[in-house]
Order: sequence, then structure tokens, then C-alpha cells
Amino acid sequence: MEETELRGVQQTLGPVLRAKALDNRLPDPILGDRHAEQVMRRLDPDYDRRRSGRSQVGLVAAVRAKAHDDWARAFLAEHPDAVVLHLGCGLDTRVQRIDPPATVDWFDLDYPDVVELRRRLLPPREHHTLIGSSVTDLTWLDSVPRGRPVLMIAEGLVPYLAEPDLRTLLTGIVDAFPTGRLQFETVPVWTRRSSKWDPTLRKYGARFHSGFDDPAALADWHPRMEYVDEVPMYDAPELMAKAPANVRRMYRLLNLVPGMKRSMRIVRFRF
Ligand SMILES: C[S@@+](CC[C@H](N)C(=O)[O-])C[C@H]1O[C@@H](n2cnc3c(N)ncnc32)[C@H](O)[C@@H]1O
Repeated sequence: MEETELRGVQQTLGPVLRAKALDNRLPDPILGDRHAEQVMRRLDPDYDRRRSGRSQVGLVAAVRAKAHDDWARAFLAEHPDAVVLHLGCGLDTRVQRIDPPATVDWFDLDYPDVVELRRRLLPPREHHTLIGSSVTDLTWLDSVPRGRPVLMIAEGLVPYLAEPDLRTLLTGIVDAFPTGRLQFETVPVWTRRSSKWDPTLRKYGARFHSGFDDPAALADWHPRMEYVDEVPMYDAPELMAKAPANVRRMYRLLNLVPGMKRSMRIVRFRF
């Protein structure tokens, strides 16, 4: 097993990676990420051999990743000269899944300890750079080429950032590039508040720090920023079509609880 020294919020990459690995074992996967399965096996060779080790209850993570991939592929098809900022990348293998052309420069950013682990687990690529930094220390932007369209993908990151830090990040990216897309998820205020009781987050000593009941209103933060759209997550058709029956039932029941369906929202903006 690979030794890992991850702390606090960094450990939240584990359950997401595991969910993506398990999705790949479905007869008809949602994301179909064989790299995730390989990385998960190296991190924890017995990950699927323990009790409930193969449970697909986290499958919604594959829906979220697929939504980001679909948006990213569409943007890169239109902008083959783009710069991609994949923030809070964890051990996600998006660059392998999307396999962008050599005209795209891709930056994967996470805390230095996560980036170090990534280096050990995933092979280097041309036109792919790892940045070990907190996303909130914007000096990392200095190492990124400007003057080209930018795609910012932040999957599973934004709720962990405090609102002022998020605002500085988004407006800083809009100011730094001529045009682009920003895609990420937000949670409503009640999810942020209740995150301090979330058993997984408590285990890692992490919690959400920002929440928005109307994510489209984030466009007000910058005159060039414009809300585009949102895609479903907990009630996504592919989740209902591909999840095993017991998991499908669980999500259907959860979605009956007021607010649950939109307890996390996948949104994008353009500028
Ligand atoms: C839930 S994981 C998601 C990982 C990956 N995006 C995925 O979907 O598999 C959250 C990630 O955000 C990273 N993160 C949280 N706060 C961060 C910060 N201030 N700067 C850089 N990375 C951060 C964590 O280290 C972790 O890898």
C-alpha cells in the first residue's frame, strides 16, 4: 500500500476516488474510469474486500465527475488552445479521461502533500503541470500562461473555501484571462451549516465554509461573469438508469426529503 500523509480536508479525496473506482466495476458504468480503479488499488489494495467495500452508495460522485467531463470536452472542442485549471484535483484522473490535444495546457492543483502523492501514483504527461499550493494563495496564477481561453474546473472544492477566498479566486481568474468558463459545485446555506454534523467530514476534521441558496447570483461578483446553467446531480437520469436497484431506491427516497435534490448543485459560468 502507498503511504499517505494526508490531513484534514485533503482526506476527502479518498471517498470520491473510491466511488469512481467502484463505478468502473458496474456492468454499465456512469464514468467508466479505469485509471481511478488502478490508483485506488495502489492506495489501498483491499479497498473492495472489506465489509460494504463494494457498496455503490457514493455513486453520485461519478455523476458529478461525468457532468464536469462532458462540459470540459465541449469547451475544449471549441477552444483547442485553452488553458485548463483543474483546482482541488485530488487524485482525480480527468486529464487521462479527457486526453486533451497537445494544444491544451492542463494544470492540476492541490495542496503540496496531495500533489506529491499524485506524482507517485500517476505518470507525467506532456503539456500537463502539477502545482502544489493552496488554491487561495493566488501566486500560483503567475505560473500559468495568460492571453488564452481558460477552463476552470473545481470538482468537490468550492464548499470547502470561505466565501471571501472563493470570491478572490473567481474574480482573480476572470481578471487574468480574456475569456473562459468556470465550472464547480456549490451547496446551499443549510448544507454548509449541517456539514459540521456530516459523519465523513467529522472523521476528517473538515467542514464546508461557504454556501449559496442562489448560486447564479455569484455572477454579480464580476461585471464580466455570466451564469450559464446547472445540471442535475442526485436526480440525474443516468444515476436512476445505471445505479443498482438498492442504491436507486436510496437516492429516490433521499430525493423526497425537502431540499435534498439540490443539496449540491453543479453550475457553470462564462466570461
Ligand atoms: C472532495 S476532494 C475532491 C478531489 C477531486 N476534485 C475529485 O473530485 O476527485 C477535495 C479536494 O480539494 C482539495 N482542497 C481543499 N481545499 C483546498 C485548498 N484551499 N487548496 C487546494 N486544494 C484544496 C483537497 O485537498 C482535496 O483533494
